[in-house]
Amino acid sequence: MRAWQVHELGDPKSALNLVEAPEPHPGPDEVVVEVEAAALNFFDILLCKGEYQEKPDLPFTPGAEVSGTITQAGEGVDLQPGQRVIATPPLPNGGLAGKVVAPTSGVFPIPDSMPFEKAAAMHIVYQTAHFALHRRAALREGETVLVHAGAGGVGSAAIQLAKAAGATVIATAGGPDKVGICRDLGADVTVDYREDNFIEVVKEATEGRGADVIFDPVGGDVFDGSRRCVAFEGRIVVIGFAGGRIAEAPTNHLLVKNYSVVGLHWGLYAKVMPHLIPETHQELMRLYEAGQIDPLIYETVSFEEVPEALELLGSRKTYGKLVTRPGG
Ligand SMILES: NC(=O)c1ccc[n+]([C@@H]2O[C@H](COP(=O)([O-])OP(=O)(O)OC[C@H]3O[C@@H](n4cnc5c(N)ncnc54)[C@H](OP(=O)(O)O)[C@@H]3O)[C@@H](O)[C@H]2O)c1
Repeated sequence: MRAWQVHELGDPKSALNLVEAPEPHPGPDEVVVEVEAAALNFFDILLCKGEYQEKPDLPFTPGAEVSGTITQAGEGVDLQPGQRVIATPPLPNGGLAGKVVAPTSGVFPIPDSMPFEKAAAMHIVYQTAHFALHRRAALREGETVLVHAGAGGVGSAAIQLAKAAGATVIATAGGPDKVGICRDLGADVTVDYREDNFIEVVKEATEGRGADVIFDPVGGDVFDGSRRCVAFEGRIVVIGFAGGRIAEAPTNHLLVKNYSVVGLHWGLYAKVMPHLIPETHQELMRLYEAGQIDPLIYETVSFEEVPEALELLGSRKTYGKLVTRPGG
């Protein structure tokens, strides 16, 4: 089978090699999945460069989330060959390959109505946004949610999930195209933060009250601005630091304005509260089948184009998710 492998760390274009790798076999509680679609993530670039928190031994195959069909089931597995699934193959044998092995704890059935590209594109970003809005921020119907970088992977998922929960959504993005995408995703109010000050827009849209929940994958100045337009008893959820600077929250400010700053590291739930992930998956499948969420795909690229697609992903020019089809 074909697989992308990193033999020497570097930028995706120099680090990734397309190789012929041996077919995988399942151990106990594992399945083999023939990969129909694999999603690309920003951290795949960091993995290639050796700058990610996880540093697998060389050679390794990046790729954290795939969709496909089970072809083999190991001992003690209830899932059947032929079942369509999302899978999260562990490193060093990630998802940028024709087939993967995954433990059953990282395998989630998908409905026949869901195309493989959409399935591969949704797992990490929708799980993250759902945990952020519902578990960490306890979002209530009728509240106002401010979603930063609303055209990005996690941001686009957060807009749709907040709308599905009955919230009013204000979304920010850089540039008119991305702002238009936020509107198409269902945002009620949009802000191009290259042109306008989002603090003023939020205050105006909420009659001075501020946003009840703020979803922040950017950090830095965006986080600082969020503290100025968060509502009484509001919750700012720290998702990531795409902007590069890790901001600070002075505790006296939290006290005098009565708001909370909460963090979310979704990956940790697999270790600490693993039962929550399949529960959330079922809820996401229900919302998908009800037409309330629909993963945004920027482009499906051929398997040969993966290194270029990863470089494009790192350039801030894309929106939603990039997906590849290893089978061609
Ligand atoms: N906490 C968790 O469990 C978790 C899970 C998944 C992802 N994340 C993190 O969330 C962040 C976003 O992930 P994603 O998958 O949504 O990424 P993405 O699709 O690449 O989107 C990130 C967005 O951030 C905005 N941005 C602002 N400043 C930027 C900069 N200097 N460089 C690049 N982008 C910048 C861009 O939107 P504009 O051009 O509109 O500003 C970009 O579209 C990442 O830091 C990621 O590591 C965290």
